[in-house]
This record gives sequence, C-alpha cells and structure tokens, in this order.
Amino acid sequence: MKWGSTRRPDPKPAREQDVGRFEISKRDGQARIGQLHTKHGVIETPCLLPVINPNIRTIEPREMYDKYGIQALITNSYVIWKHEHLKSTALENGIHELLDFPGAIMTDSGTFQSYVYGDVEVGVEEIVEFQRNIGVDIATMLDVFTRPDMNFEEVSEAVEETIKRAEVSLNVAGDTLLNGPIQGGIFPQLRSKSASEMSALDFCVYPLGGIVPIMEKQKYKDLAKIMLVCKSRLAPNKPVHMFGCGHPMLFPMLIAMGADLFDSAAYALFARDGRLLTPWGTEKIDEIEEWPLFMPSVVDCTPNEVREMNKIDRTAILSRFNLEVTLQELAHCRQAVRNGTIWRLVERRSHQHPALREAFLWLVTEPAQTNMDPIFIDEISSSMERGEGRGRWEENWDWLINAQITPRNGSEQWAGQDTIKRPHVEMARRRLFARWRSQKKGDVVIFHGTSAPWRTRIGELMDRLVETDFEFFLHTPLGLLPLGLEDLNPWAHIEGPEWIWNRKPDLSWCRQELERFNIDNRKIITIDISNTEDIHKRVFSELDIGIQEANQNLRFQQQITDKLCVLGNVSLDDAIAITEGSTFVKSRTGRIRNMISKDGNHLFSPRLAEGGISLTLDGAIWAHSIRKSPMPDSFTEMDLISNVGEGFAVVVVNNDAEPFVKEGRNVMHGFILGCDSWTRPSENVLVVNSQGELLAFGRSQATAKEMEVMKKGIAVKVRQGCP
Ligand code: GUN
Repeated sequence: MKWGSTRRPDPKPAREQDVGRFEISKRDGQARIGQLHTKHGVIETPCLLPVINPNIRTIEPREMYDKYGIQALITNSYVIWKHEHLKSTALENGIHELLDFPGAIMTDSGTFQSYVYGDVEVGVEEIVEFQRNIGVDIATMLDVFTRPDMNFEEVSEAVEETIKRAEVSLNVAGDTLLNGPIQGGIFPQLRSKSASEMSALDFCVYPLGGIVPIMEKQKYKDLAKIMLVCKSRLAPNKPVHMFGCGHPMLFPMLIAMGADLFDSAAYALFARDGRLLTPWGTEKIDEIEEWPLFMPSVVDCTPNEVREMNKIDRTAILSRFNLEVTLQELAHCRQAVRNGTIWRLVERRSHQHPALREAFLWLVTEPAQTNMDPIFIDEISSSMERGEGRGRWEENWDWLINAQITPRNGSEQWAGQDTIKRPHVEMARRRLFARWRSQKKGDVVIFHGTSAPWRTRIGELMDRLVETDFEFFLHTPLGLLPLGLEDLNPWAHIEGPEWIWNRKPDLSWCRQELERFNIDNRKIITIDISNTEDIHKRVFSELDIGIQEANQNLRFQQQITDKLCVLGNVSLDDAIAITEGSTFVKSRTGRIRNMISKDGNHLFSPRLAEGGISLTLDGAIWAHSIRKSPMPDSFTEMDLISNVGEGFAVVVVNNDAEPFVKEGRNVMHGFILGCDSWTRPSENVLVVNSQGELLAFGRSQATAKEMEVMKKGIAVKVRQGCP
C-alpha cells in the first residue's frame, strides 16, 4: 500500500499497561532497535522526531504522517503557551488536532528558549501542567540548560536545580509521560551525577540536554564522551533522546552508543539557508550542479531549477530533501543494527569529517589505554583534587564492550589497525584471554602466513600435533588464536588483503599477547605454513621431534574443551572430564557436528557458521549438574575475570513464568529474579526456578542490568524447555 496523497490509518493506541514501556527487539552491542509504546501508537526507534514550529509549518505534520510514515514529532509547548491563539485552540481541542497529527507528540518546555533568549516567564509546574492539559504524549520538564562555557560551580547548581525540579514535575505530570533531561555541561562527574539521580526517578525518556552548542562547534569528541558517561548510567529500559541533534552525519556514532531518539529542526532551518544535509556533511544549493543524493522530492527538478524558485517553494523542496536524507540515513543505521554492522558504519562515516574521525579514534583507542584525557582539563584537575577521575573512562568503555555480541555470523572486514579495536572484537579478545587455559607445558609454536580455514591446509597436521607438549597458536591480524579454536569468529572470518596474513610475527607483540593468556617465559617458535608442500616433515623437523601419529578424536575433544571454557565459562577440569572418552559425528567437510559423551549422550553441537557451541537438552542437564556456586539472586554485572570457570550463566525466573518456560516458551522481561554477573546478549544460558531446578535453556538477549529493569520484550530466547 502506498501512502502519499492517501490517508494512512490512525495508529493503534498501546494497551493501558504498556503506555510508556520500551522494549528492545534487536541489538548490536548497545545499539538497539526498540519500540516505545504510547497512546498514539508505537514509536519504532532509533528515529527522528521532526521539530514542528506551530507558527511556521514548513512541511505539514499530516504529510509527515501520511507520506513519510513519521510516527512521532516534537513541538514546543512554550511557543504554544505564549501565543494566545495557539494556546486556546490547544487547550480546547488538544495538541493532536491543533497540529493535525495522529501519531505521538512530544513537547519541549521552553528551556532551549531560556538558553537562547536569557529567560522564560513560565513556571516549572505551570509548563508541565499545560503540556498535560493539551494532551501531549511525552512532555518535558523545565530543566536548566548547561552551556559548555559554564564553570564547574555554575553547572553543578544547574544540575542540582534540575534534579530538584524533577520530582515536582513528575507529580504534576500525573500519567502524562515525561522527559527527564540530563545536564552537566562537559564535566563527567556532573553528567554522571545528573544521569544517576535522574535515572532513579520515573521518567519515560531521558534526553541529553545542553549538547546543541557542543554540536554547533563540531566538538564531536566531547559529545562522544558525554554520551558514554550519561548512557552507561541511565536505566536501559528507557529510551535516550538527543536534544537538538538532527544531522545525519552523527547518527551512526550516537546510535552505536545507544541513542534512540533524535530531534531537529535542521531539515527546515538548513533548507531556509539553501543548505542540503547529507551523511557526509552539508552542501550548498548555490554550489552544486548535481544532487548529492537523488531523493524522491527532487527527481523531477535540477538544482538549477530549484535555485531559480522563489524562497518559499525552494525552502519547501529542500526541507523535503533534507527530511528524506535524514530518514534514509536512519533507515541505514537501523539496518546496520539488525545486521550487526553498526560499528562498521560508524567507522566508515568517521572518515566524513575530521572531528568525527577524532571522536571515533578516541572511542576505539584511548579509553582502553588511558584513564585520563586532557580535553576535560579543568575537570581532571578538580576531580584529582577530589580523588576521582582515574578509571572513569575505562569503566564507561567496559559498559559498551560488555554488551557486544560475539561470536557472530559473517565476515570481519579488515579496515586497518582500528579493526582490532572494534567493540565486539575487543569483547571477543577479552573473553578469550579471561577464559582460555593453556593445557600444555612446552614451547609455544605460532603458525603464520595464511588465513582461515586453517583446517583445510593443516587439518591432518593438527591431528598429528595434538599429543605433543607444544602449545599452538595461529597468528591473525586480530591477535593470537589458540589452535583449538581455529574456526571461531571473528579470527576465522577476516576479509582483507593478502598481505595482512603474510606479515612475519613480531615477537615482542606475540609476547604481550601470550602474557594476556598467562603464558610467560616460554620459548617461541614461529613456523610459516603458507606453503604446505612437505609440511609434516618440515614442521616436525622444526620442532625437533619425529612425525607423530594422527589422533583426530583427541583433537576434537580438545576443540570442544576450548569452546566450553571460552564460550560456556566452564572450568578446565569440568570441560576435560566431560569430553574425555567422547566420540563425534562429523559433517561432510570433516568438522564436528555432534559430540557424544562416553555415556552415549549427544551433549553439544558446534555451530559451524561462527564457531560457537549449542547445547542439547542433555548438554543443558549436564551444564546444570556441574554448577557449584549458589544460584544468583541479584543482577550484579561484573567483568569477565571475576567468575571464570563458574559455568554457563543462569537466569532465575519467578513462579508465574515457570510453567510457560518449562514448556519451551521464551523468558519475558519482568519475570526474572536474578541472573549471573556474566550474562551477556547471545550467550547460552540455563533457566532455573527459584529452587534452582532447571526449566529450560536458550540464548540470552540482554545484559544483567537489562534483565533487572526491562519490563517488556524477550529476555531469553528459549531453545527447549526441560520436561
Ligand atoms: N533543546 C535543546 N537542548 C535542550 C535542553 O538542554 N533542554 C531542553 N528542555 N530542550 C532542549
């Protein structure tokens, strides 16, 4: 069905108990596809709320709804309140009729006007009451704007005052949903305070405020820092809105860090000045002969013809162009989240502008290496005086890393040295370093010179090496990979030029890698396996031992042991005990399809696409039986090091969910009593009742924090219930 000149049907109001609830249906790390339920329909996020100036409607809200499918817009309640004709109509007929828009309407409160014009004459309670009375879906309290040029004390006062106003505003709002803006200028601990304290109150959406001047000055690195500090402290069950952010160039980076809503008048304001928005920056209609993007609004005219138009017509057409480009880039970002490629998009877009590149490089390199950053110089010295500051950035970065999904399907496209710093690669590496255990005492042997699949090149060699006392690694552009995990993503699926594989291992770098595996003081032997001619003879002669017998079964046992340790958090002893004496069903290409235990039970099936491992019902029963630590009764999130070897993560559900889960239905948010601190999206988890009895097993869709606070959506995709 095409909506253009036709009316789109009105949206379906959310069920009463769902109004204001936010669910996550798809994710890529902290980037998420979500649904915010309102009385005027569902808002699919990430999305843009176009700003409507009730006095100058460049594009009619009705057209936005019918033609562009805009589900929500934002307008300013203070502007309506100030203009008598708008105010009386809004009070009489409601905001939806005033704007002729059937979707969700968010309103702002006049804070931005106070930043631009100095002050506003409306009261804190008065403006919230007004928004409630005109029937808006999501209102905004009157927060105190924090400018980047304000000093610590001034910003601190503004943050305190905003928090003070928050409770009053929530009381007045009643059942109208409310925005709770986060202020704090460029001071991390004030941003952190604002986010933590506002988050403890029952707002529906958390907008980041005070960022417009930072974006206007193109200080995107500061924006990234602010986002990271705030977002990691905000409850994940509430959407985050970027106040005044509508330049498509910024969407990928902010979405990758968890932004859900954007609003901007940029599409109309830029159009008025003859400027075109594109994902790589801004272009001027006066300087182009060709459209930078061939959008629907300009298919039947040339830039020259548009230049010749009167200002009203020109603005109208360029506004549509800008809106279309904005919607297009958001669609692109949403698809990237679905495909698990949002960080790749961030990386690509980072090349569009030096300030964006700087922000990206700071994100992917510095926080992992240094705890301190000179940009917040004032802040650092003041926080040092208070004995804070160190570790702050690390901690924020961990929040982002810990939500990454790995292993994943598809290839890792190599894009230079940054590739190793991609958040999900970092997560994969951290997990490997934390959980993998060396089983051999001998020298380290590093194979290099070729990419995956290694088994097609040296499969038989691997079978012959398995009984020796050497510890074997593969040299990859994403770091050293233990040989037993040779099919694990991302190391096994790197797409890049030949030469990235041909580099000879740098020994000091290899030593650093080995240290992270807890391997110290061992001799390192590097062997080039690019040429497989006579490979067995050559390798055994380099190792100074005779050619060994092949033992494929033992190699398979070791592979499963490694996977159970790294991907299931199983202790090495338990993993060795269960794989001992096992046999294997092989695929046509000679890979492990199923592992059958020595008792004849099919327990695990490696996932061939990404090198993961799936449990069977018997596998889940075994995983449950080896649990030694008490079942979780809270939702603490911890780093990976803290609970190594404690087994597959457990999710405890309440009595209401028990019968459904046991039948194999998914675990829904809102029915969970606790989960292990190492629960991560996409991990295999065991689902138990409050007595610790196994009910089901499946794959987690959420972090521990999300398990705690989310009220809607799927928490665990159950693979099978346990009768
Ligand atoms: N619009 C742009 N920035 C802000 C802000 O900080 N607060 C509010 N309420 N609206 C804004």
